[in-house]
Amino acid sequence: MSTTTVSLNRKELFLRACHGEALPRVPVWMMRQAGRYLPEYRELRAKHAFLEVCKTPDLAVEVSMQPFRRLGVDAIIVFSDILIQAEAMGLPLELGDTGPNLPEPVRSLDAVKKLRNFDPEKETAFLMEAIRRIVRTAGQEVPVLGFAAAPWTLSCYMVEGRTNEGFPTVKSFLYSEPTSFRELLHRIVQATIGYLKAQIAAGAAAVQLFDTWCGELALPDYWEFALPAVQEVISAVRGKVPVIYYTKASRHLLSAVAESGADVLSCDWRVNLAELHAAVGPKIALQGNLDPAVLFAPQEYIRETTRGILGQLGGVGHILNLGHGILPGTPVENAQTFITTGQQFSFAENAEAK
Ligand code: CP3
Repeated sequence: MSTTTVSLNRKELFLRACHGEALPRVPVWMMRQAGRYLPEYRELRAKHAFLEVCKTPDLAVEVSMQPFRRLGVDAIIVFSDILIQAEAMGLPLELGDTGPNLPEPVRSLDAVKKLRNFDPEKETAFLMEAIRRIVRTAGQEVPVLGFAAAPWTLSCYMVEGRTNEGFPTVKSFLYSEPTSFRELLHRIVQATIGYLKAQIAAGAAAVQLFDTWCGELALPDYWEFALPAVQEVISAVRGKVPVIYYTKASRHLLSAVAESGADVLSCDWRVNLAELHAAVGPKIALQGNLDPAVLFAPQEYIRETTRGILGQLGGVGHILNLGHGILPGTPVENAQTFITTGQQFSFAENAEAK
Protein backbone atom coordinates (compact mmCIF):
# COMPACT_ATOMS: atom_id res chain seq x y z
CA MET A 1 0.00 0.00 0.00
CA SER A 2 1.35 3.42 -0.84
CA THR A 3 1.69 6.08 1.84
CA THR A 4 -0.96 8.29 0.21
CA THR A 5 -3.66 5.70 0.67
CA VAL A 6 -2.61 4.76 4.19
CA SER A 7 -2.99 8.37 5.28
CA LEU A 8 -6.53 8.82 3.95
CA ASN A 9 -8.69 9.95 6.82
CA ARG A 10 -12.34 8.94 7.29
CA LYS A 11 -13.72 12.02 5.59
CA GLU A 12 -11.44 11.69 2.57
CA LEU A 13 -12.33 8.04 2.26
CA PHE A 14 -16.04 8.81 2.51
CA LEU A 15 -15.95 11.62 -0.05
CA ARG A 16 -13.90 9.54 -2.46
CA ALA A 17 -16.48 6.77 -2.18
CA CYS A 18 -19.26 9.29 -2.90
CA HIS A 19 -17.39 10.39 -6.01
CA GLY A 20 -17.22 6.82 -7.32
CA GLU A 21 -13.49 6.40 -6.83
CA ALA A 22 -11.48 3.22 -6.16
CA LEU A 23 -10.73 2.82 -2.46
CA PRO A 24 -8.08 0.95 -0.47
CA ARG A 25 -10.92 0.05 1.92
CA VAL A 26 -14.56 1.07 1.98
CA PRO A 27 -16.03 3.43 4.58
CA VAL A 28 -18.73 1.83 6.73
CA TRP A 29 -21.56 3.13 8.92
CA MET A 30 -25.08 1.98 9.76
CA MET A 31 -28.45 3.63 9.34
CA ARG A 32 -30.01 4.21 12.81
CA GLN A 33 -26.60 3.52 14.29
CA ALA A 34 -27.50 5.59 17.36
CA GLY A 35 -30.36 3.56 18.74
CA ARG A 36 -31.88 1.06 21.07
CA TYR A 37 -29.41 -1.79 20.42
CA LEU A 38 -26.80 0.28 22.34
CA PRO A 39 -27.02 0.02 26.15
CA GLU A 40 -25.69 3.58 26.54
CA TYR A 41 -28.52 4.84 24.27
CA ARG A 42 -31.15 2.95 26.29
CA GLU A 43 -29.71 4.35 29.48
CA LEU A 44 -29.98 7.91 28.21
CA ARG A 45 -33.47 7.30 26.81
CA ALA A 46 -34.63 6.01 30.20
CA LYS A 47 -34.09 9.56 31.47
CA HIS A 48 -35.07 11.63 28.42
CA ALA A 49 -37.94 11.40 25.93
CA PHE A 50 -37.06 10.85 22.27
CA LEU A 51 -38.00 14.36 21.09
CA GLU A 52 -36.19 15.87 24.06
CA VAL A 53 -33.00 14.11 22.92
CA CYS A 54 -33.50 15.43 19.37
CA LYS A 55 -34.04 18.99 20.60
CA THR A 56 -31.30 19.24 23.23
CA PRO A 57 -27.95 19.64 21.46
CA ASP A 58 -25.95 18.21 24.39
CA LEU A 59 -28.03 15.03 24.33
CA ALA A 60 -28.21 14.80 20.53
CA VAL A 61 -24.42 15.15 20.32
CA GLU A 62 -23.93 12.50 22.99
CA VAL A 63 -26.09 9.88 21.23
CA SER A 64 -24.68 10.76 17.79
CA MET A 65 -21.18 10.11 19.17
CA GLN A 66 -22.06 6.80 20.87
CA PRO A 67 -21.68 4.50 17.83
CA PHE A 68 -18.49 6.34 16.81
CA ARG A 69 -16.93 5.82 20.22
CA ARG A 70 -18.09 2.26 20.66
CA LEU A 71 -17.83 0.82 17.14
CA GLY A 72 -15.48 3.19 15.31
CA VAL A 73 -17.87 3.77 12.39
CA ASP A 74 -16.56 5.90 9.51
CA ALA A 75 -19.35 8.48 9.49
CA ILE A 76 -21.46 10.11 12.19
CA ILE A 77 -25.09 10.81 11.33
CA VAL A 78 -26.61 13.53 13.44
CA PHE A 79 -29.28 12.26 15.79
CA SER A 80 -32.68 13.56 14.74
CA ASP A 81 -35.74 12.25 12.92
CA ILE A 82 -37.24 12.87 9.50
CA LEU A 83 -40.44 14.06 11.20
CA ILE A 84 -38.74 17.00 12.94
CA GLN A 85 -39.24 18.80 9.61
CA ALA A 86 -42.98 18.08 9.62
CA GLU A 87 -43.22 19.71 13.03
CA ALA A 88 -41.19 22.70 11.88
CA MET A 89 -43.62 23.09 8.96
CA GLY A 90 -46.45 23.39 11.46
CA LEU A 91 -47.73 19.89 12.23
CA PRO A 92 -47.84 18.79 15.86
CA LEU A 93 -45.70 15.67 16.36
CA GLU A 94 -45.72 12.90 18.95
CA LEU A 95 -43.04 10.23 18.95
CA GLY A 96 -43.96 7.61 21.50
CA ASP A 97 -43.29 3.92 21.96
CA THR A 98 -45.78 3.02 19.25
CA GLY A 99 -43.96 5.03 16.57
CA PRO A 100 -44.66 8.49 15.20
CA ASN A 101 -48.04 10.17 15.31
CA LEU A 102 -49.12 13.42 13.66
CA PRO A 103 -52.53 14.13 15.23
CA GLU A 104 -53.42 16.87 12.72
CA PRO A 105 -52.64 15.26 9.34
CA VAL A 106 -52.85 17.17 6.05
CA ARG A 107 -55.87 16.03 4.04
CA SER A 108 -57.12 19.11 2.18
CA LEU A 109 -55.79 22.00 0.14
CA ASP A 110 -56.59 24.29 3.07
CA ALA A 111 -54.36 22.22 5.34
CA VAL A 112 -51.60 22.21 2.69
CA LYS A 113 -51.75 26.00 2.49
CA LYS A 114 -51.23 26.31 6.23
CA LEU A 115 -47.83 24.57 6.05
CA ARG A 116 -44.94 26.93 6.65
CA ASN A 117 -41.60 27.28 4.91
CA PHE A 118 -39.69 27.56 8.16
CA ASP A 119 -36.37 29.18 9.02
CA PRO A 120 -34.12 26.21 9.83
CA GLU A 121 -31.72 28.32 11.88
CA LYS A 122 -34.62 29.34 14.11
CA GLU A 123 -37.20 26.54 14.17
CA THR A 124 -34.60 23.77 14.08
CA ALA A 125 -31.70 25.68 15.65
CA PHE A 126 -31.07 22.66 17.93
CA LEU A 127 -30.23 20.48 14.92
CA MET A 128 -27.79 22.97 13.39
CA GLU A 129 -26.16 23.44 16.77
CA ALA A 130 -25.87 19.65 17.22
CA ILE A 131 -24.14 19.37 13.82
CA ARG A 132 -21.70 22.17 14.65
CA ARG A 133 -20.87 20.56 17.99
CA ILE A 134 -20.42 17.07 16.52
CA VAL A 135 -18.01 18.50 13.93
CA ARG A 136 -16.08 20.20 16.73
CA THR A 137 -16.06 17.09 18.91
CA ALA A 138 -15.20 14.52 16.23
CA GLY A 139 -12.82 16.80 14.35
CA GLN A 140 -12.46 17.69 10.69
CA GLU A 141 -11.32 14.20 9.74
CA VAL A 142 -14.64 12.50 10.37
CA PRO A 143 -17.61 13.06 8.03
CA VAL A 144 -20.78 14.23 9.77
CA LEU A 145 -23.96 13.45 7.87
CA GLY A 146 -27.10 15.55 7.76
CA PHE A 147 -30.42 14.20 6.48
CA ALA A 148 -34.03 14.79 5.62
CA ALA A 149 -36.95 12.76 4.35
CA ALA A 150 -37.42 12.59 0.59
CA PRO A 151 -40.59 14.56 -0.29
CA TRP A 152 -42.78 11.52 -1.02
CA THR A 153 -41.91 9.82 2.28
CA LEU A 154 -42.53 13.00 4.27
CA SER A 155 -45.88 13.42 2.49
CA CYS A 156 -46.78 9.86 3.55
CA TYR A 157 -46.44 10.80 7.22
CA MET A 158 -48.01 14.24 6.80
CA VAL A 159 -51.14 12.83 5.17
CA GLU A 160 -51.38 9.42 6.81
CA GLY A 161 -50.34 10.70 10.24
CA ARG A 162 -48.43 7.50 11.02
CA THR A 163 -46.86 4.45 9.43
CA ASN A 164 -49.85 2.72 7.85
CA GLU A 165 -49.57 -0.43 5.74
CA GLY A 166 -50.24 0.36 2.08
CA PHE A 167 -50.55 4.11 2.80
CA PRO A 168 -54.18 4.24 1.58
CA THR A 169 -54.92 7.80 2.76
CA VAL A 170 -51.97 9.46 1.04
CA LYS A 171 -52.63 7.50 -2.13
CA SER A 172 -56.28 8.43 -2.22
CA PHE A 173 -55.29 12.10 -1.71
CA LEU A 174 -52.83 11.82 -4.59
CA TYR A 175 -55.37 10.16 -6.92
CA SER A 176 -58.39 12.30 -6.07
CA GLU A 177 -56.69 15.69 -5.64
CA PRO A 178 -53.49 15.56 -7.70
CA THR A 179 -53.20 19.36 -7.84
CA SER A 180 -53.45 19.72 -4.06
CA PHE A 181 -51.03 16.85 -3.64
CA ARG A 182 -48.54 18.54 -5.97
CA GLU A 183 -48.84 21.69 -3.90
CA LEU A 184 -48.02 19.63 -0.80
CA LEU A 185 -44.93 18.19 -2.49
CA HIS A 186 -43.95 21.66 -3.65
CA ARG A 187 -44.08 23.04 -0.12
CA ILE A 188 -42.13 20.08 1.22
CA VAL A 189 -39.49 20.56 -1.51
CA GLN A 190 -39.02 24.25 -0.71
CA ALA A 191 -38.71 23.59 3.02
CA THR A 192 -36.37 20.63 2.52
CA ILE A 193 -33.96 22.66 0.38
CA GLY A 194 -33.54 25.31 3.09
CA TYR A 195 -33.33 22.65 5.79
CA LEU A 196 -30.54 20.73 4.02
CA LYS A 197 -28.64 23.89 3.05
CA ALA A 198 -28.62 24.92 6.72
CA GLN A 199 -27.28 21.49 7.72
CA ILE A 200 -24.54 21.81 5.12
CA ALA A 201 -23.67 25.33 6.34
CA ALA A 202 -23.45 23.90 9.87
CA GLY A 203 -20.82 21.42 8.70
CA ALA A 204 -22.50 18.33 7.22
CA ALA A 205 -20.01 16.66 4.87
CA ALA A 206 -22.79 14.89 2.98
CA VAL A 207 -26.57 14.63 3.26
CA GLN A 208 -28.89 11.68 2.93
CA LEU A 209 -32.49 11.70 1.75
CA PHE A 210 -34.64 8.90 3.15
CA ASP A 211 -37.33 7.59 0.78
CA THR A 212 -38.42 4.70 2.95
CA TRP A 213 -41.88 4.43 1.38
CA CYS A 214 -41.21 5.05 -2.33
CA GLY A 215 -41.50 1.30 -2.91
CA GLU A 216 -45.23 1.65 -2.22
CA LEU A 217 -45.65 3.51 -5.51
CA ALA A 218 -46.13 2.01 -8.95
CA LEU A 219 -43.50 3.15 -11.44
CA PRO A 220 -45.75 5.64 -13.32
CA ASP A 221 -46.75 7.36 -10.05
CA TYR A 222 -43.14 7.45 -8.88
CA TRP A 223 -42.17 9.11 -12.20
CA GLU A 224 -44.98 11.60 -12.05
CA PHE A 225 -44.95 12.64 -8.39
CA ALA A 226 -42.05 11.39 -6.27
CA LEU A 227 -39.18 11.67 -8.76
CA PRO A 228 -39.59 15.32 -9.87
CA ALA A 229 -39.84 16.39 -6.23
CA VAL A 230 -36.70 14.57 -5.12
CA GLN A 231 -34.86 15.76 -8.25
CA GLU A 232 -35.67 19.34 -7.35
CA VAL A 233 -34.27 18.94 -3.85
CA ILE A 234 -31.13 17.19 -5.06
CA SER A 235 -30.36 19.66 -7.83
CA ALA A 236 -30.65 22.55 -5.33
CA VAL A 237 -28.16 21.13 -2.82
CA ARG A 238 -25.89 18.95 -4.93
CA GLY A 239 -22.45 20.28 -5.72
CA LYS A 240 -22.05 21.75 -2.26
CA VAL A 241 -21.73 18.28 -0.76
CA PRO A 242 -22.58 14.78 -2.05
CA VAL A 243 -26.20 13.69 -1.81
CA ILE A 244 -27.08 10.11 -0.87
CA TYR A 245 -30.57 8.90 -1.82
CA TYR A 246 -31.94 5.96 0.14
CA THR A 247 -34.82 3.99 -1.32
CA LYS A 248 -36.39 0.85 0.12
CA ALA A 249 -38.13 -2.01 -1.70
CA SER A 250 -37.51 -0.09 -4.92
CA ARG A 251 -36.37 -2.76 -7.40
CA HIS A 252 -39.26 -1.89 -9.71
CA LEU A 253 -38.29 1.80 -9.59
CA LEU A 254 -34.54 1.63 -10.09
CA SER A 255 -34.51 2.88 -13.69
CA ALA A 256 -36.26 6.02 -12.42
CA VAL A 257 -34.33 6.26 -9.14
CA ALA A 258 -31.14 6.38 -11.23
CA GLU A 259 -32.45 9.67 -12.71
CA SER A 260 -32.68 11.37 -9.31
CA GLY A 261 -29.38 13.22 -9.69
CA ALA A 262 -28.00 11.77 -6.44
CA ASP A 263 -24.27 11.11 -6.16
CA VAL A 264 -24.92 7.92 -4.20
CA LEU A 265 -27.85 5.50 -4.30
CA SER A 266 -28.43 3.64 -1.06
CA CYS A 267 -30.47 0.48 -1.43
CA ASP A 268 -31.75 -2.46 0.53
CA TRP A 269 -30.78 -6.14 0.37
CA ARG A 270 -33.28 -6.95 -2.37
CA VAL A 271 -30.82 -5.49 -4.88
CA ASN A 272 -27.55 -6.96 -6.12
CA LEU A 273 -24.99 -4.12 -6.05
CA ALA A 274 -23.01 -5.45 -9.03
CA GLU A 275 -26.15 -5.56 -11.16
CA LEU A 276 -27.21 -2.11 -10.01
CA HIS A 277 -23.75 -0.75 -10.77
CA ALA A 278 -23.90 -2.25 -14.28
CA ALA A 279 -27.33 -0.65 -14.76
CA VAL A 280 -26.60 2.86 -13.46
CA GLY A 281 -22.98 3.20 -14.60
CA PRO A 282 -19.78 4.37 -12.91
CA LYS A 283 -20.92 7.94 -12.20
CA ILE A 284 -23.28 6.90 -9.43
CA ALA A 285 -21.77 5.43 -6.26
CA LEU A 286 -23.68 2.89 -4.18
CA GLN A 287 -24.34 2.45 -0.48
CA GLY A 288 -25.53 -0.68 1.27
CA ASN A 289 -26.82 -3.26 1.61
CA LEU A 290 -26.67 -5.93 4.31
CA ASP A 291 -30.07 -7.08 5.53
CA PRO A 292 -30.13 -5.77 9.14
CA ALA A 293 -31.61 -9.13 10.20
CA VAL A 294 -28.29 -10.77 9.23
CA LEU A 295 -26.86 -9.10 12.35
CA PHE A 296 -28.82 -11.72 14.34
CA ALA A 297 -26.97 -14.54 12.56
CA PRO A 298 -23.84 -16.35 13.76
CA GLN A 299 -20.69 -14.22 13.47
CA GLU A 300 -19.22 -16.28 10.65
CA TYR A 301 -22.38 -15.83 8.58
CA ILE A 302 -22.19 -12.06 9.15
CA ARG A 303 -18.56 -12.00 7.98
CA GLU A 304 -19.23 -14.12 4.90
CA THR A 305 -22.29 -12.15 3.83
CA THR A 306 -20.52 -8.84 4.37
CA ARG A 307 -17.52 -9.99 2.33
CA GLY A 308 -19.88 -11.12 -0.40
CA ILE A 309 -21.34 -7.61 -0.59
CA LEU A 310 -17.88 -6.03 -0.63
CA GLY A 311 -16.88 -8.33 -3.49
CA GLN A 312 -19.76 -7.09 -5.64
CA LEU A 313 -18.22 -3.65 -6.18
CA GLY A 314 -14.54 -4.40 -5.53
CA GLY A 315 -14.13 -1.31 -3.36
CA VAL A 316 -15.04 1.14 -6.12
CA GLY A 317 -17.58 3.85 -5.28
CA HIS A 318 -18.98 1.88 -2.36
CA ILE A 319 -20.06 2.90 1.13
CA LEU A 320 -20.80 -0.20 3.17
CA ASN A 321 -24.03 0.04 5.16
CA LEU A 322 -27.11 -1.93 6.08
CA GLY A 323 -30.07 -2.07 3.72
CA HIS A 324 -32.27 -0.38 6.34
CA GLY A 325 -31.92 0.78 9.95
CA ILE A 326 -30.30 -1.47 12.52
CA LEU A 327 -32.96 -3.33 14.50
CA PRO A 328 -33.51 -2.92 18.24
CA GLY A 329 -32.15 -6.00 20.01
CA THR A 330 -29.23 -6.46 17.62
CA PRO A 331 -26.27 -7.83 19.62
CA VAL A 332 -23.67 -5.04 19.81
CA GLU A 333 -20.85 -7.52 19.14
CA ASN A 334 -22.53 -8.47 15.85
CA ALA A 335 -22.75 -4.83 14.79
CA GLN A 336 -19.05 -4.59 15.64
CA THR A 337 -18.29 -7.65 13.51
CA PHE A 338 -20.02 -6.02 10.55
CA ILE A 339 -18.07 -2.74 10.96
CA THR A 340 -14.72 -4.46 11.51
CA THR A 341 -15.20 -6.90 8.63
CA GLY A 342 -15.84 -3.93 6.35
CA GLN A 343 -12.90 -1.92 7.59
CA GLN A 344 -10.44 -4.80 7.48
CA PHE A 345 -11.32 -5.89 3.97
CA SER A 346 -8.54 -4.39 1.93
CA PHE A 347 -8.61 -3.80 -1.78
CA ALA A 348 -4.87 -3.98 -2.38
CA GLU A 349 -5.25 -3.48 -6.14
CA ASN A 350 -7.10 -0.18 -5.53
CA ALA A 351 -4.38 1.03 -3.17
CA GLU A 352 -1.64 0.26 -5.69
CA ALA A 353 -3.49 2.03 -8.48
CA LYS A 354 -3.07 5.34 -6.66
O1 CP3 B 1 -29.50 6.94 11.60
C1 CP3 B 1 -29.38 7.48 12.70
O2 CP3 B 1 -28.79 6.96 13.68
C2 CP3 B 1 -29.93 8.89 12.89
C3 CP3 B 1 -31.22 8.95 13.50
C4 CP3 B 1 -32.50 8.64 12.74
C5 CP3 B 1 -33.68 8.32 13.45
N1 CP3 B 1 -34.71 8.27 12.55
C6 CP3 B 1 -33.76 8.12 14.90
C7 CP3 B 1 -34.91 7.39 15.45
C8 CP3 B 1 -32.83 8.70 11.38
C9 CP3 B 1 -31.94 8.95 10.20
C10 CP3 B 1 -34.23 8.47 11.28
C11 CP3 B 1 -34.96 8.53 10.00
C12 CP3 B 1 -36.36 8.07 9.98
N2 CP3 B 1 -37.32 8.30 10.91
C13 CP3 B 1 -36.94 7.39 8.89
C14 CP3 B 1 -36.26 7.03 7.60
C15 CP3 B 1 -35.37 5.85 7.74
C16 CP3 B 1 -36.08 4.58 8.08
O3 CP3 B 1 -35.83 4.07 9.17
O4 CP3 B 1 -36.85 4.10 7.25
C17 CP3 B 1 -38.29 7.16 9.22
C18 CP3 B 1 -39.30 6.44 8.37
C19 CP3 B 1 -38.52 7.76 10.49
C20 CP3 B 1 -39.80 7.84 11.24
C21 CP3 B 1 -39.72 7.12 12.50
N3 CP3 B 1 -39.03 7.55 13.61
C22 CP3 B 1 -40.33 5.89 12.81
C23 CP3 B 1 -41.18 5.07 11.86
C24 CP3 B 1 -40.01 5.61 14.14
C25 CP3 B 1 -40.56 4.48 14.98
C26 CP3 B 1 -39.94 3.18 14.63
C27 CP3 B 1 -38.86 2.90 15.61
O5 CP3 B 1 -37.77 2.50 15.18
O6 CP3 B 1 -39.13 3.04 16.81
C28 CP3 B 1 -39.15 6.64 14.63
C29 CP3 B 1 -38.52 6.73 15.95
C30 CP3 B 1 -37.00 6.78 15.95
N4 CP3 B 1 -36.24 7.57 15.14
C31 CP3 B 1 -36.13 6.06 16.84
C32 CP3 B 1 -34.83 6.45 16.53
C33 CP3 B 1 -33.56 6.01 17.20
C34 CP3 B 1 -36.57 5.13 17.96
C35 CP3 B 1 -37.06 6.01 19.06
C36 CP3 B 1 -36.66 5.55 20.44
O7 CP3 B 1 -35.51 5.79 20.87
O8 CP3 B 1 -37.53 5.00 21.13
